[in-house]
Amino acid sequence: MTGRSCLTIVLAAGEGTRMRSALPKVLHPVAGQTLLAHVLAAAPAGPGTSLAVVVGPGHEAVADEAKRVRPDVMTFVQRERLGTAHAVLAAREAISAGADDLVIAFGDTPLISADTFARMRKPLRDGASLAVLGFHAADPTGYGRLIVDDGRLIAIREQAEASAEERRITLCNAGVMAFDGKAALRIIEKIGNANSKGEYYLTDAVGITRETGLTATVIETGEDEVRGINTKAQLAEAEQVMQARLRKAALDAGVTMIAPETVFLAPDTSFGKDVTIEPYVVIGPGVTIADGAVIHSFSHLVQASIGRNASVGPYARLRPGTSLGEGARIGNFVEAKAAVLEAGVKVNHLTYVGDAHIGANANIGAGTITCNYDGFNKYRTEIGAGAFIGSNSSLVAPLKIGNGAYVGSGSVVTKNVPDDALAVGRGLQTVRENWAKRFREMKALARKPKTG
Ligand code: UD1
Ligand code: CA
Repeated sequence: MTGRSCLTIVLAAGEGTRMRSALPKVLHPVAGQTLLAHVLAAAPAGPGTSLAVVVGPGHEAVADEAKRVRPDVMTFVQRERLGTAHAVLAAREAISAGADDLVIAFGDTPLISADTFARMRKPLRDGASLAVLGFHAADPTGYGRLIVDDGRLIAIREQAEASAEERRITLCNAGVMAFDGKAALRIIEKIGNANSKGEYYLTDAVGITRETGLTATVIETGEDEVRGINTKAQLAEAEQVMQARLRKAALDAGVTMIAPETVFLAPDTSFGKDVTIEPYVVIGPGVTIADGAVIHSFSHLVQASIGRNASVGPYARLRPGTSLGEGARIGNFVEAKAAVLEAGVKVNHLTYVGDAHIGANANIGAGTITCNYDGFNKYRTEIGAGAFIGSNSSLVAPLKIGNGAYVGSGSVVTKNVPDDALAVGRGLQTVRENWAKRFREMKALARKPKTG
């Protein structure tokens, strides 16, 4: 936008002690992605933008996650947790590079949208020195209150410093601020810690902006977008808000769901036309579903690609690396992992397919298992086009079964099977005529009461 360069700093140095978890707060997931990943995905991106994350000491995992999501990110460590303004100054080196806009966001508000970030930057273009994101809180307790006079933002008062009258204000600070880059450092460096908590409050930037004769302004948004996560209960609430958004987007895109409230989606799920998702389906990250596919109830999909008119479940588990061709069918109690099933393949019941490639139109009988693991390594199974695997067979990998080959039911297949051959690997059946009849007669005699 507008050719103005932009630095975004995401503050993520919080311990998150109220999460009661060994995991740093911003690494908790919402819709399968970390809180931090959501914020970074929404942050301004593209030419002229740069990104920094401030992490707590010892939180390499947070820095690593930031780099995973945005490899161009700069990371800084805030050694002591002395307040939000102090955290921003941990990234002083990045700020000194002199971007036109400086945007500050919190790593624990995952529902923020890219559109809101863009709206925050607009007042800067129009001459404001500071824009603050505000919202009306149903319960404002704990938030900084926005003191507005005659439509102008005068100050932010933190809960601890607010008078009884100020505490009645419901317009609150969401935490996102956009500074004019030229004024930013001068303003933030003036912030002191003479308050009840002895912290450097970033929110004091508003009063300082005003005192220097510059303008501060409010951009408003809805409370749902700026929910900060401090507890597991708030994490669950954010999940609900996110899922509601994702379900609405899927319905708007034409997905049929008769009980959308029971379906869980990921932000990167992609849908073709006329996709149906039945109740109680969980879709994790990295799933693509093509036109006309049906996902039946109680299925769980992660990093899988579902071809046109394919059918999955009910009760199917598709793990990473599963790919179904056009019209392929995965039935109940089937698990697939790193498996490519070409068009028209049928795996209808009670089967495990892992590290496998299955050629077009092959039929995999109930209870087939690809034995892909010997406790040390994983091995591949290749099944040719049009092959027929009889029920309850164990395919011991590495293994190749040719095109059009047959495997007899109940076989343990350890050697490759050529095209169009039959492989049977099981104990030979023996039949003894009249054995059962004689057995019954003998037992009946033995049971007779003894006489005499
Ligand atoms: C902050 C705001 C408050 C706002 C609220 C919105 C300040 C002083 N207050 O309060 O006006 O209504 O967020 O949720 O800014 N952080 C650091 N280093 C620090 C302190 C904080 O990185 O030294 C990070 C935290 O990890 C978190 C964010 O800054 O991501 C906000 O800190 P937090 O302590 O949660 O601030 P609040 O009291 O919620
Ligand atoms: Ca907070």
